[in-house]
Amino acid sequence: MKIVNVKEVEVSLCCGGKMRSEAQFGIESAVLILDTIATFPLRHEVCVLSGYNGTIFAYGQTGSGKTFTVTGGAERYSDRGIIPRTLSYMFGEFQKDSSKVYTTHISYLEIYNECGYDLLDPRHDASKLEDLPKVTIMEDTDQHIHLKNLSLHQANNEEESLNLLFLGDTNRMIAETPMNQASTRSHCIFTIHVSSREPGSATIRRSKLHLVDLAGSERVTKTGVGGQLLTEAKYINLSLTYLEQVIIALAEKNRAHIPYRNSMMTSVLRDSLGGNCMTTMVATLSVDKRNLEESISTCRFAQRVALIKNEAILNEEIDPRLVSKLDAHLLTRVKDQG
Ligand SMILES: Nc1ncnc2c1ncn2[C@@H]1O[C@H](COP(=O)(O)OP(=O)(O)O)[C@@H](O)[C@H]1O
Ligand SMILES: [Mg+2]
Repeated sequence: MKIVNVKEVEVSLCCGGKMRSEAQFGIESAVLILDTIATFPLRHEVCVLSGYNGTIFAYGQTGSGKTFTVTGGAERYSDRGIIPRTLSYMFGEFQKDSSKVYTTHISYLEIYNECGYDLLDPRHDASKLEDLPKVTIMEDTDQHIHLKNLSLHQANNEEESLNLLFLGDTNRMIAETPMNQASTRSHCIFTIHVSSREPGSATIRRSKLHLVDLAGSERVTKTGVGGQLLTEAKYINLSLTYLEQVIIALAEKNRAHIPYRNSMMTSVLRDSLGGNCMTTMVATLSVDKRNLEESISTCRFAQRVALIKNEAILNEEIDPRLVSKLDAHLLTRVKDQG
């Protein structure tokens, strides 16, 4: 575990994986770390590009740099965060690999007070979060989660995908007023859906990479608020508690039941947090004496996440269109013979 100074008063803490040995003090290393984290779920044999799900999430109290880390700062190109770096690397890899045909779709979901909102709906001129289409969770008989009303947008290159990120972030900002700082009180999940197939092959590999900017992890008692803010804080605390419960359950050996269903966020991340994927956590800390308690609790959470042992599963299926074509072909042959 190493603390990396990104800005004089802000630090980002990277824990686990390769980052430990690469982390050094200074801005250059901050960029190196961001690039390392952003490309981590894409660089290995078992990775999003080869059909395994992944999640990168930022956890920490409000003001500690989660959004800056995940999306980036607007002022300088070098301030771009994990999402643009991941997209850039990913489309570069697609271009290099001529053995497969890749298709990419993007979705961007905001969860506020346990309600989901689609940040990428082009039909809406949103002036507040509630104007955006509401996203609800449906579970099918095989216990697969489906998100009703969450739009998926095809992105053919880095530029198109960055435009979608920009659209989503604009909707995020519009929905936020000084009275309703929704973005620090909501969870945002930017998801890259990748499918790949070798030309002529009937097998499709599908994977998802969730890039998650969580709501601030500070506790209600400290914020000293009432009314709506208190309601929001309770929801945040509750959903982060549920996330923690899932993390604890995942880290326990031989644990049969993982309580994903308790909150919308853990339901959405269900197939991308546990055994099926590669999970990276970025813990952000505000190094001020007053924040010591929060910082310790963030580090404790990071420690728990580091205990999860994942066994990634390949998401591979036969193209359903080819299967029905084959069925029809067989039927005709049977009929011809009969
Ligand atoms: N590494 C950094 N370098 C420069 N500015 C930063 C850095 N991290 C955070 N900031 C700034 O600090 C403020 C709070 O960061 P933000 O990412 O919004 O925190 P959070 O999302 O955790 O609430 C923002 O104005 C952001 O631009
Ligand atoms: Mg934020």
